[in-house]
Amino acid sequence: MPPVIEISGLRKTYRKLLRQPHNALDGLDMEVAAGQVHGFLGPNGSGKTTTLRALLGLIGTDGGAMRVFGEEVPRRLPQVIGRIGAVVESPQFFKHFSGRLTLQVLAESAGIASARVDEVLEQVGLRDQAKQSVKGYSLGMRQRLAVAQALLKRPELLVLDEPANGLDPAGIHHMRELLQWLAHEQGVTVLVSSHLLSEVQQLCDSMTIVSRGRRIVDGKVADIIAGHSGSQLSVRFADAGEIGRAMEVLASAGDGVSVAAERERLVVTGAPEAAWVTRTLADAGLYLSELTTETKNLESVFLELTGTAPQAGQPVQVGQAVPAPPVGASAETATGGEQ
Ligand SMILES: Nc1ncnc2c1ncn2[C@@H]1O[C@H](COP(=O)(O)OP(=O)(O)OP(=O)(O)O)[C@@H](O)[C@H]1O
Ligand SMILES: [Mg+2]
Repeated sequence: MPPVIEISGLRKTYRKLLRQPHNALDGLDMEVAAGQVHGFLGPNGSGKTTTLRALLGLIGTDGGAMRVFGEEVPRRLPQVIGRIGAVVESPQFFKHFSGRLTLQVLAESAGIASARVDEVLEQVGLRDQAKQSVKGYSLGMRQRLAVAQALLKRPELLVLDEPANGLDPAGIHHMRELLQWLAHEQGVTVLVSSHLLSEVQQLCDSMTIVSRGRRIVDGKVADIIAGHSGSQLSVRFADAGEIGRAMEVLASAGDGVSVAAERERLVVTGAPEAAWVTRTLADAGLYLSELTTETKNLESVFLELTGTAPQAGQPVQVGQAVPAPPVGASAETATGGEQ
């Protein structure tokens, strides 16, 4: 089955008077397969919303090609828009309408049976607040109402920009269950953007990671994380003065070994095994006092993947090594080491 979404070489440059043009999308490629929850993951400002807006014909682009259900967009968007539900811009609601009335009006204008309104209210978990006016809705409740609105027409493709925004933990859990049910049980293709790897890891089957408007990696979420989440070794010495020389010895002794000095310890990545570190140091007359293996956290994997963008046209394949963070700036330190 061909991908539901195919994007290749997408470019978007924002131009403002008296400002340097800004390449928000710099040749972005993305493919989304049918019947999956696909995560579109990238740091703030990496071009996720810009891509989704371009895909839905809300903004123009400066190059590249996009297809949805095999149809070229935006040219053929009118032919496929009826099959797409989306929440990308923050939706505006009539404040004095209740949640149910909001959906009823939309359903009527689209010729959708009113029984569907109750179905989607139930699905997004708004049934009990359906009679309240939208004016009193929290951010999370508005987000649910927007998703309900997108679901009304039983879309085959659901596009959501940061759907977890404003949701509390129970709301996130509920949204996750709903999106997975839609994809896995109802065959809906779901594309969600996020800037949190942990969220994508829990929700999505596959993902595209972007940084600075380019694809860095794509594939199954589990494969990408497994391919990049190796472990690192922490090495300490009784005499912290030996750290400098130990760093030189380790860095020059092994191909692909990267060493970072961090407070009173060394952080070694890419070493063949822990014993190699002990042996290499002992051969140079350096004796360590402590050696521990630490598993890299998700946050550091994400930073590693998005910290250094590859050259255009050279996406990193799943399992392929990515450039290590610079010496002295280990990802763990940069993120505060959240586990
Ligand atoms: N209307 C605009 N005018 C000028 N620059 C813009 C505009 N919209 C976005 N940008 C810039 O384009 C880049 C990509 O923005 P975009 O909103 O697509 O990022 P994002 O990945 O969705 O980020 P976030 O995670 O914060 O939502 C950013 O540098 C942003 O400042
Ligand atoms: Mg955004």
